[in-house]
Amino acid sequence: SAPLRPKPETNALANRLDLPVRLRRNRKADWSRRLVREHELTVNDLIWPIFIIEGDNQMQAIGSLPGVERFSIDVAVREAEAAAKLGIPALALFPNTDPALRDPEGHEALNENNLVCRATRAIKRAVPEIGIITDVALDPYTSHGHDGILRGNEIVNDETVAVLVAQALNQAEAGADIIAPSDMMDGRIGAIRAGLDAHGFENVQIMSYAAKYASAFYGPFREAVGTNVTLAGDKRTYQMDPANSDEALREVAIDLEEGADSLIVKPGLPYLDVLARVKEHFGVPTFAYQVSGEYAMIMAAAANGWLDGERAILESLIAFKRAGADGVLTYFAPRVAKHLRQTV
Ligand code: PBG
Repeated sequence: SAPLRPKPETNALANRLDLPVRLRRNRKADWSRRLVREHELTVNDLIWPIFIIEGDNQMQAIGSLPGVERFSIDVAVREAEAAAKLGIPALALFPNTDPALRDPEGHEALNENNLVCRATRAIKRAVPEIGIITDVALDPYTSHGHDGILRGNEIVNDETVAVLVAQALNQAEAGADIIAPSDMMDGRIGAIRAGLDAHGFENVQIMSYAAKYASAFYGPFREAVGTNVTLAGDKRTYQMDPANSDEALREVAIDLEEGADSLIVKPGLPYLDVLARVKEHFGVPTFAYQVSGEYAMIMAAAANGWLDGERAILESLIAFKRAGADGVLTYFAPRVAKHLRQTV
């Protein structure tokens, strides 16, 4: 009797589906996949966040960020030279301030010789062609680890904004190219823009952390800057609720009205939907921050052999491009820049 099913190897023709469209045709070879590729990651997409410490010739490991080190200023200058040679457009600087210099109001943020200002001057002097982004927020300078001034149980908004304007001016005077407020106070973009303009810094850009969420993924960063030990409570009264995305559009609209030149959505991969909405809605330069916890997750899984680290890194970065990012702040920047150089 006849078999119930035809044998596939003898019935290729009989089994053939009559399909007008076969999307696999374009995927059949590497040359073809490259031809139809919609998005591309280049070194021009990379912003490298680095951590600065006191000392000479110091590179200090960070337990929860394997492969990332804090640099003394001289080392940061050498690393900036290497990054510029790789074609990385910009660095974002974060200080690990001596605990003895942290106080309830974050005065060290206004010291013209604080770590970030000295690092900015040294890097701009040695490597003028690389962009320097400085972070405006008080958390690396306050004894309580909050981004603003604490009065009782409250991070007071307007008083904090006045200090942030002074912090931004201090950074601009040191030579920062881009001021990046990450504090999430209301009204700070407009106040900082006005302060910069009033002091002749109308060409200093503002990259606003417009949609910054109260996220668990910042854990390793807080170890890197030493706020894991200082932070009292959490940041939910100023950073956004992870449950919201309409609110992100409002944050962005206000920051653009107040004069932001570009935006950051942060964290990255868990918030690709927010990134895509922001880019689609406003069509302005929009950056994703692949934050410390995202870096740590990939590194930890790769170290365990649970995934291919290199592929996971590149896949995460192309995902940002696909979602609409103009660039990504990522601790993987030098590693990926080296990889991209080898593959062109
Ligand atoms: C604080 C700041 C944070 C990050 C950048 N700036 C952490 C926080 O809000 O507590 C996190 C970056 C990262 O996790 O990589 N102003």
